[in-house]
Amino acid sequence: MNILITGSSGQLGSSFNELAKGNKDHSFFFTDKGELDITSEEAVRQFLKHHEVNCIINCAGYTAVDEAENDPLGARKLNVTGAYILASAAGNTNALMVQVSTDYIFDGKACRPYNESASTNPLSSYGRSKLDAELEVLLNARRSVIIRTSWLYSPFGHNFVKTILKKGAEEQRLRVVYDQIGSPTYAPDLAEAILALIPVLSSRVRGEIYNYSNEGVCSWFDMAVAIAEMAGLPCEITPVLTKDIKSVATRPHYSVLDKSRIKNSINIDIPYWRDSLRVCIDRLLKS
Ligand SMILES: NC(=O)c1ccc[n+]([C@@H]2O[C@H](COP(=O)([O-])OP(=O)(O)OC[C@H]3O[C@@H](n4cnc5c(N)ncnc54)[C@H](OP(=O)(O)O)[C@@H]3O)[C@@H](O)[C@H]2O)c1
Repeated sequence: MNILITGSSGQLGSSFNELAKGNKDHSFFFTDKGELDITSEEAVRQFLKHHEVNCIINCAGYTAVDEAENDPLGARKLNVTGAYILASAAGNTNALMVQVSTDYIFDGKACRPYNESASTNPLSSYGRSKLDAELEVLLNARRSVIIRTSWLYSPFGHNFVKTILKKGAEEQRLRVVYDQIGSPTYAPDLAEAILALIPVLSSRVRGEIYNYSNEGVCSWFDMAVAIAEMAGLPCEITPVLTKDIKSVATRPHYSVLDKSRIKNSINIDIPYWRDSLRVCIDRLLKS
């Protein structure tokens, strides 16, 4: 299969880049906005005219959750219009469109993990744009799959793990919320799961949704404590309530994803979040 990765310099895109080096089953085209701006219909049309693409994995996105509150149009342009343009182009060429989505489409009022048919109710501009992106993909691609994930981190780009490593080395005390509960996802694990899922999808798959995160559940506070312990940071981490910190966007208090569906579909062991976190931290400390 010839797979187009958009947003290839981001966390997930870079993880696919590494995975591709040992993969003989597929050919990959890696593009970030310099090579292919997904908000340009003409650029996407031209790209697909000149490259034979059977599958698009959209790793591009406006992922700055707080910034999206003050820039809802910017978030929509990249997340919704970008997804629409890619999905329409995929529809025209019959390519499989893989859209990556988020736990922030939920309001967090549940008290059990969200399965793929759970009701959505995003609380933020970012979450709304990602939910609308799902709808654009569903409506416009002939063959499509949506992968919802949560709390993505990796050795690449910006993420919570890198922030705690940096702040924990600079400051004596950190305050981290303990009333937002979810499951971290190591981007290389997610990339591997997506590549394992593609071959088992039916040739007529349309708008099917799969959840993926690492195993286990924690709060951001638990995760920060784990990062500090694993990296040997001397800082003290204090648990605080969301209402006691300044945050522009509203985030769900609970956004654990139920992974039964993907576990029943592909034969992979999903790593426990602390195990993947250790892999990431070891790698970051070595670099
Ligand atoms: N990060 C999370 O915690 C999280 C959680 C759940 C779901 N997700 C979803 O997972 C997916 C991947 O997230 P990520 O963390 O890997 O994202 P990321 O690191 O922010 O990467 C996104 C990439 O898209 C690029 N991009 C920006 N504008 C573009 C354009 N017009 N055309 C093409 N590329 C463009 C960015 O370039 P610049 O950096 O130069 O702008 C960046 O390289 C996204 O769909 C996101 O919504 C993320």
